[in-house]
Amino acid sequence: MANIIDGKRISAEIKDEVKVKADELKAKGIEPCLAVVLVGEDPASQVYVRNKKKACEYCGIKSLSYELSADTTEDELLSLIDKLNADKSCNGILVQLPLPKHIDENKILLRILPEKDVDGFHPYNVGLLSIGKADLKACTPAGCIELIKRSGVDITGKRCVVVGRSNIVGKPVGMLLLAENGTVTTCHSKTKNIAEVCRQAEILVAAVGIPRFIKGDMVSQGATVIDVGVNRLENGKLCGDVDFEEVSPKAAYITPVPGGVGPMTIAMLMKNCITACRKQNNL
Ligand code: GUN
Repeated sequence: MANIIDGKRISAEIKDEVKVKADELKAKGIEPCLAVVLVGEDPASQVYVRNKKKACEYCGIKSLSYELSADTTEDELLSLIDKLNADKSCNGILVQLPLPKHIDENKILLRILPEKDVDGFHPYNVGLLSIGKADLKACTPAGCIELIKRSGVDITGKRCVVVGRSNIVGKPVGMLLLAENGTVTTCHSKTKNIAEVCRQAEILVAAVGIPRFIKGDMVSQGATVIDVGVNRLENGKLCGDVDFEEVSPKAAYITPVPGGVGPMTIAMLMKNCITACRKQNNL
């Protein structure tokens, strides 16, 4: 039976480390500050935004909250970003995704100054990530790496398989595993013999968005399995991309859903806020 990787505990550890760093900054007269922007009333986004603000409060990071109506125009949102870009007291800008359909997400993300892009979504930061030089790394992928490392699993030389090639998880997590000296394969919907590829993995990261996609026969004995999936079932329950019941007897380490990768995203966001703040203050 696998060791369960406790994302709640590890994320709490990271938030405590962030809190110490925020206190150090405040002792120098610098107050780290994050602007959180929500457009519209998507209930899931409202929960995420509330949790981000709560985490700021816990860590001692000031949060500025902008909750805009669903009919906000692209120009209005761009103006807000320009204002926050120019505001020296604001170190990070987070625009909660998805945005309403009439707003071009890419255009918005491009407008955020790369040094304030605490989500790590700006193409400039994605580029730095691909050459192994990013300060601001996408939060969920960076959280996956922390879970692996803090469980005592060494990535160097391991066969890593990522299932999913999204811009916000699959691709960046592959780049981060590579930066940690893993041997990385990325699978996706067109991959042939996906089960066979997955069985090669010593570290398997599932980020496909299909409930219980990874079955027991797709995982080798002793693998480390990181489940990024957050799927809402018809009964309202949350379920990952990994069939936990089938996979956990084979894995050496496995993340649960909920309580695995989920809490890490916000912890890494807090860490990025401190990184951004320090950099902007030449520390
Ligand atoms: N929507 C879902 N995940 C995320 C995230 O990590 N950042 C932002 N800004 N929006 C999201």
